[in-house]
Amino acid sequence: MCGIAGYIGNQQAAPIVLDGLSRLEYRGYDSAGIAVFDGERIRMAKAAGRLSVLEKLTDSGRALPGFCGIGHTRWATHGCPSDENAHPHMNQENTIAVVHNGIIENYRKLRAKLEKKGYVFSSETDTEVLAHMLTEYYRGDPVEAIEKVLHRVEGSYALGIMFLDHPHHIYAARRDSPLIVGVCGEGKFIASDVPALLEHTRTVYYMENEEIATLSDEHIRFYSIDGELLSKEPVTVEWDVSAAQKDGYAHFMLKEIYEQPKALRDTIFPRLKGDRIDLEDLGLSEEEIRRLSRITIVACGSAWHAGVTGKYVLEELARIPVETDLASEYRYRNPICEPDSLVIVVSQSGETADSLAALRDAKARGSRVLAIVNVVGSSIAREADSVFYTNAGPEISVATTKAYSCQLAAFYLLAAKFALVRGTIDEARAKELLSSLKKLPDQVQELLSAPDELSFLANRYLAADHVFFMGRGIDYAVSLEGSLKLKEISYIHSEAYAAGELKHGTISLMEEGTPVIAVATSDRIYPKTLSNIVEVKTRGASVLALTTPDHRDLSQVADHVLFVPKTDPLFMGSLSIVSLQLLAYYVSLGRGLDVDKPRNLAKSVTVE
Ligand code: F6R
Repeated sequence: MCGIAGYIGNQQAAPIVLDGLSRLEYRGYDSAGIAVFDGERIRMAKAAGRLSVLEKLTDSGRALPGFCGIGHTRWATHGCPSDENAHPHMNQENTIAVVHNGIIENYRKLRAKLEKKGYVFSSETDTEVLAHMLTEYYRGDPVEAIEKVLHRVEGSYALGIMFLDHPHHIYAARRDSPLIVGVCGEGKFIASDVPALLEHTRTVYYMENEEIATLSDEHIRFYSIDGELLSKEPVTVEWDVSAAQKDGYAHFMLKEIYEQPKALRDTIFPRLKGDRIDLEDLGLSEEEIRRLSRITIVACGSAWHAGVTGKYVLEELARIPVETDLASEYRYRNPICEPDSLVIVVSQSGETADSLAALRDAKARGSRVLAIVNVVGSSIAREADSVFYTNAGPEISVATTKAYSCQLAAFYLLAAKFALVRGTIDEARAKELLSSLKKLPDQVQELLSAPDELSFLANRYLAADHVFFMGRGIDYAVSLEGSLKLKEISYIHSEAYAAGELKHGTISLMEEGTPVIAVATSDRIYPKTLSNIVEVKTRGASVLALTTPDHRDLSQVADHVLFVPKTDPLFMGSLSIVSLQLLAYYVSLGRGLDVDKPRNLAKSVTVE
């Protein structure tokens, strides 16, 4: 999704802004632009394509001297990716420059009004209305003009604005699209995400909805959308710079796959106090846990897949009915929220528009909302009743890996705790679960020490048009995620099926050589999945199977078998997924694709 970076201070702004934008490249974009006040004018450069085009155009920022600037990477929503549609957008007099993340939903109406008044538009974007509206309402006080504009726009925004009349100032505002303000000595920054600032500072202010900020050489001030001065405390971001760098790995995705043992340790171990799982900070009393009548897990994409596993594990252990819903469906389906129900919103970024809307909807209906979130201080984290932080560290690659793994771990901990409190498992079973949980990071480490087989196996899929994944129970939940990993970074069409469903339609697609990846780690339903594997083999499919060393017989049926170490059956997904992540990575690499920044995708989906 779009990225914003801005700087004001005693250093050249353009190189800092360009560097900030480069740290946000992972979010996905198709054009970029920058505006800098050069002492007399606001000068602007924009270009469709990669940031490197803009860097070349501006001689790495040197062609735009000045100490105050804003920049943007655009992920097209309104208007194709082009130089004209790239941000910043300026008014006709070139006295106001705007960068914007989000969508102005009533922009057509606003544009028509402005055009009637004689304003001439030079782009197809929704953002340009803001530059002209600011001109319309500006009477010398930028904050007043911004307030007036914000009261008239519908939709979401994170904004960076410069006024030629106030050259040593950056103005910022947000609603439903993240924006932070950073400070380091003389230097002040705005950014849509923490990695853009880490090189310079870890002291940040999180802007809340409908807040306006002014950054000048002397101060940072925050106002409400009604002009009331607000007092705000900075917070220190725990992530360090190296966490947002590749550290010698070819890609962030590979680095993040390899960071999984640490991420899991950091998520699991702080929650273990001796033989107890400590979830006290979630503020759920034992009485409340016992009374829970239903859990609804709401999320998007991979986080939703983690929720599918969460359902299996929570129902199995804690015997609470669980439904897992897509946030984009939940928010529009008039869901039923019973008094003793809990809604769990899962999100790496904590900014996903649909998940945030679902959270708000659930709260408005009186549900208690627990968020499983990775990014500290994100909107979902701030608005939920309580937060279970996954400590995966910054995840840069668009395709999630370590955050997904930590979301699974969060569900294991919640399920084991809820089960013990509700008396649906005994102490002995709880101990068994904890002991398996503690071993998980090392088992993932073990899997990561043998990537060659997967790199070799990946060659089988380089020319594939489609791949089918299948499994049952937790193996099905993992298949969903394995399939998404493969399709999003390799562009090979792939779908995951509950293995028992194949014969209800999909099996008609099986023919000689059809690639099938079967996950069959669950002992309990292994014979059933085995039958499904035989069924597709009989129709000519070429099967790669994942199973545990207990099922060596699978080698006689499947074309290739990958063995995954055993853990508690409920936690098997944490191990099988590692092989599927690596497979997707090597297929993408083998096809010569941009592993970390797959086309059309954004890391944080802050618009609907
Ligand atoms: C896929 C992927 C996405 C995200 C989804 C939700 O690899 O990363 O499917 O899982 O966009 O994002 P978050 O977790 O930030 O809410």
